[in-house]
Amino acid sequence: MDLGITGKIALVTGAGGGIGSSIAKYLNENGAFVYLIDINESGLQDALSTLSHQNLAKTICLNIAHYSEVKNAIDQIVSDHGTPEILVNAAGVAGLNTPIFELKEEEFNRIMSVNLNGTFNMIRHVSAHMAELGRGKIVNIASMAGVAGSNLFQSHYAASKGGVISLTRSAAKELGPKGIHVNGIAPGVIETQMIAEMKEEAREDYMKKIPLQRIGYPDDVGKVALFLSSDLSVYMTGQIINVDGGIIMA
Ligand SMILES: NC(=O)c1ccc[n+]([C@@H]2O[C@H](COP(=O)([O-])OP(=O)(O)OC[C@H]3O[C@@H](n4cnc5c(N)ncnc54)[C@H](O)[C@@H]3O)[C@@H](O)[C@H]2O)c1
Repeated sequence: MDLGITGKIALVTGAGGGIGSSIAKYLNENGAFVYLIDINESGLQDALSTLSHQNLAKTICLNIAHYSEVKNAIDQIVSDHGTPEILVNAAGVAGLNTPIFELKEEEFNRIMSVNLNGTFNMIRHVSAHMAELGRGKIVNIASMAGVAGSNLFQSHYAASKGGVISLTRSAAKELGPKGIHVNGIAPGVIETQMIAEMKEEAREDYMKKIPLQRIGYPDDVGKVALFLSSDLSVYMTGQIINVDGGIIMA
């Protein structure tokens, strides 16, 4: 089946991390030219080395929290290569586990600047070019914390992801008439560096509540991102898909 991805330019942020590298892998496997974007240069090189079509990929070291740097990077890609038709925003940072009444302003802003502002910066600059082209697919990686609130004293992280969900829906309404689809994924607990320091107690607690009885793998999210980037989701926009083994129902 043709997924409608072959030959398209795709941008994936957070591609040096667990979920983003899986998404980059699936898009590359299906014929997209993938720009792997991350702030972590060695993570980018690791991700690049695992791709099946390395001639269809390029890495860009970029801090998505910086508005003008994002603009310059996107403009450069468009002038060198063409307009991206797929954008997946997977870059993100987890907050320190801190009760809200002890949370410092700098820590709140640090999380917002990457998870929410960074996602906005990418959508802002890429959608301008997609709108000119008259088509595009944007996929934002949110979190179950953004849907249901945090259970781990991460109100700042949850708020940033709630913002991503709301941004997804608003952008979908605005950009739909311009041929641009905007959807999101709310992962549950996924085995990546981000949860490496999660306490055993919290892990066990999640395990008891997940109907599918396992922690997720990055590929569980990667496959759904591929679906949302492809022609298979041609009549979907503004949707947030929970990829969480069913825990959101607990
Ligand atoms: N792992 C989970 O359980 C889980 C659950 C829900 C949502 N998520 C979300 O999934 C996404 C991917 O996370 P992951 O689990 O793969 O974690 P990860 O830490 O493996 O990957 C995150 C990547 O984002 C990059 N990044 C951080 N700040 C950046 C910046 N300013 N500019 C560019 N890149 C930056 C990191 O370098 C890293 O490579 C994140 O948005 C995260 O919030 C993860």
